[in-house]
Amino acid sequence: MNVFINKNIPEAGLLLLQEKGINLTINPTENILSRKEFIEICQKNDVLLNVGTNNLDEDFFQQCPNLKGIALFSVGFDSVHIPSANSRKIPVGNTPDVLSRATSDVAFLLMQSVARKSFYNHKRILNNDWGSFDPLANLGQELYGKTLGVFGLGRIGFEMAQKCKAAFGMNIIYHNRSHNENAEKELDAKLVDFETLLAESDVLSIHANYSAENNELFNKNTFAKMKSNSIFINTARGKFHNEEDLFHALTNDIIWGAGLDVTNPEPMKQDNPLLSLPNCCVLPHVGSATYEARNGMAVCAAQNVIAVIEGKKMPFCVNE
Ligand code: DGY
Repeated sequence: MNVFINKNIPEAGLLLLQEKGINLTINPTENILSRKEFIEICQKNDVLLNVGTNNLDEDFFQQCPNLKGIALFSVGFDSVHIPSANSRKIPVGNTPDVLSRATSDVAFLLMQSVARKSFYNHKRILNNDWGSFDPLANLGQELYGKTLGVFGLGRIGFEMAQKCKAAFGMNIIYHNRSHNENAEKELDAKLVDFETLLAESDVLSIHANYSAENNELFNKNTFAKMKSNSIFINTARGKFHNEEDLFHALTNDIIWGAGLDVTNPEPMKQDNPLLSLPNCCVLPHVGSATYEARNGMAVCAAQNVIAVIEGKKMPFCVNE
């Protein structure tokens, strides 16, 4: 069987595949392949280890009838049209758990960065605008005892809530389809409906899987229901929020600040007006960018590939 890896991954995963003597084609260029080039290579392979956001839609599956499995180098699987994979009995695997700490670290970092306007203050120095000590300028907010609202309390949301509780004694509320008993027991987290989450969160952080039903759920209407001191954090997927509406909310005192590791669309353009706001911190989708997380992701993805080759069930399968 032949495996195509569309972008180089950490050695930890490559070694596992090489030890098995698997025939690997790794995209030799640093360039992103065009869709045509990508599909042409996938057509010649049995398994795809996919890095990035290639749209693996019905058209892709139709054009690649020989594929027997897809191992994603991500925990999110919104890039794959799962019904198309299901109808062809193609397993799709992801990389859960190994990036929960790193991604929640970034959510936590953004929360504090927004609360203390750190990106903006850094820019002030770069712009030669340090100025003199001003008791009234550049004030932030303290997070002690505030309420964290988690939209989607799974593995990453749990770790974010744990950090907020431990560091700032924050109260935890969350909105999920079902109870997270662990979070309720360990963190005294309370399950609330979506309207309550909007109304009561001082910090609202998204940690759900993206799906079309949640497209731009955070928009003019929902921002209007949030507290005017609230901080909006999105480290999940940019499509959860409407960017124009977020800009409006941030510039009209509807919410207090926003921290984004994901944007809508990605990559964000250099002249995006959000980047010039003092109350907005943006990172270029680096939630899982630690050695530890990326090594873990490489191992999970390789294990998923090996399972397909050996005719076994993927250890981290999202569609079976
Ligand atoms: C993930 O793992 O889903 C990250 O967002 C990288 O795409």
